[in-house]
Amino acid sequence: MSSINYSEKIPNNVNLSEDRALQRALEHWQPNYLQWWKDMGPNGSQNFDVYLRTAISTTPDGWAQFGHVKMPDYRWGIFLNAPEAGRQVNFGEHKGEAAWQDVPGEHRANLRRIIVTQGDTEPASVEQQRHLGLTCPSQYDLRNLFQVNVEEGRHLWAMVYLLHKYFGRDGREEAEALLQRNSGSQDNPRILQAFNEETPDWLAFYMFTYFTDRDGKFQLCALAESGFDPLSRTCRFMLTEEAHHMFVGESGVSRTIQRTCEVMKQLGTDDPAMLRKQGVIDLPTIQRYLNFHFSVTIDLFGADQSSNAATFYASGLKGRYEETKRSDDHQLKGEHYKILEVQGDKLVEKEVPLLNSLNEVLRDDYIKDSIAGIGRWNKVIEKAGFSFRLQAPHKAFNRHIGTFAGIRVAPDGRVISESEWQANVRNWLASEEDRAYVASLMGRVVEPGKMANWIAPPAVGINRQPVDFDYVRFN
Ligand SMILES: [Fe+2]
Ligand SMILES: [Fe+2]
Repeated sequence: MSSINYSEKIPNNVNLSEDRALQRALEHWQPNYLQWWKDMGPNGSQNFDVYLRTAISTTPDGWAQFGHVKMPDYRWGIFLNAPEAGRQVNFGEHKGEAAWQDVPGEHRANLRRIIVTQGDTEPASVEQQRHLGLTCPSQYDLRNLFQVNVEEGRHLWAMVYLLHKYFGRDGREEAEALLQRNSGSQDNPRILQAFNEETPDWLAFYMFTYFTDRDGKFQLCALAESGFDPLSRTCRFMLTEEAHHMFVGESGVSRTIQRTCEVMKQLGTDDPAMLRKQGVIDLPTIQRYLNFHFSVTIDLFGADQSSNAATFYASGLKGRYEETKRSDDHQLKGEHYKILEVQGDKLVEKEVPLLNSLNEVLRDDYIKDSIAGIGRWNKVIEKAGFSFRLQAPHKAFNRHIGTFAGIRVAPDGRVISESEWQANVRNWLASEEDRAYVASLMGRVVEPGKMANWIAPPAVGINRQPVDFDYVRFN
């Protein structure tokens, strides 16, 4: 292994060329990362030249560079947002202390666990999406998939940087383990269940990037509040990339809806069977995909009552969404929050200590944000003159973590029997048949500017390039 030219190969603003310990750790890890990318990254893509955005600084006007690169040669870099002078720990029991530049010994294990859990999701999504390139609906979309993939790779680098820099030997071991767990593996799966599900088709990909990358946004926002300053600064920069992932999801679903509505207009019908004959995805199927991805994703926030969440907050490690914009005392002792609980066949509100409900608080903030985009999708349907509306299901629907695990709840929030669930689940969650139908549409379209029949073209290209630009050169 030849040695690395640090500023060339690994764009960074952490003074890597002068940090021998970090260099040594990365020198050992980087070949394993590249091997992982070859084995588990986008299938059959090693030789493609892809029009990618590379992070090269953290200033808003100049942070990204665009150009064709082979993904294994992508310059995965390490960037932290600039430090904020005089920043403090802004919540919890250490509120008012200077923000930590090093890991406080007493919180070391929890902090490592938080970083590892976040880090594990990044390569997991690359693994989940690795076959999608074979069925892309356009070159533009293929490029967006690869952009998301390399940035999730960079997010892994971001977490590995923290592990290498601040956690010594056990940090290095955790960094290796991040490359060894695999999405969906029987023996060594990814930590969180939603990251072991498949992303089998492009509608699932758009739903994933809309809903599940948005979970990423909320987790990163909560960690951006951390009293551990390097984690905060790392997450702040990751958020600039995350915005594009959610754009890919939101616009992808929107274009799918737009195309369906065009065919609905042409045929003068909303009959799913007729629409399927024309090779577009009927709106009820889109709703069932939405229901699945929404419910699986809100499980990621964890149990509605959690002593871990209380500990992470009280110790200043993980804040709330927009912590510093809130006007309470940021310690929350004696405060309460309303959560839902099942009583007989009803969901009823119950007041519980706020500190124990912080997962639920973050989930509720997430739900609000998710619903806003669903409203924008409905605008497309409304504009086309149809009355169908997409909706987020009730938050108790199809849950597997927390109070609602093990009970059956309809999308409208009614607690129902197992037999009612079984009789209706095909109307509520994407069925095998739905998935087989969507899979049947997934051909590979790569001629510049051409779109698969089931999706409308994007309004504009990437980085002011035309839609029919050669975003991917196949060689
Ligand atoms: Fe990410
Ligand atoms: Fe992401």
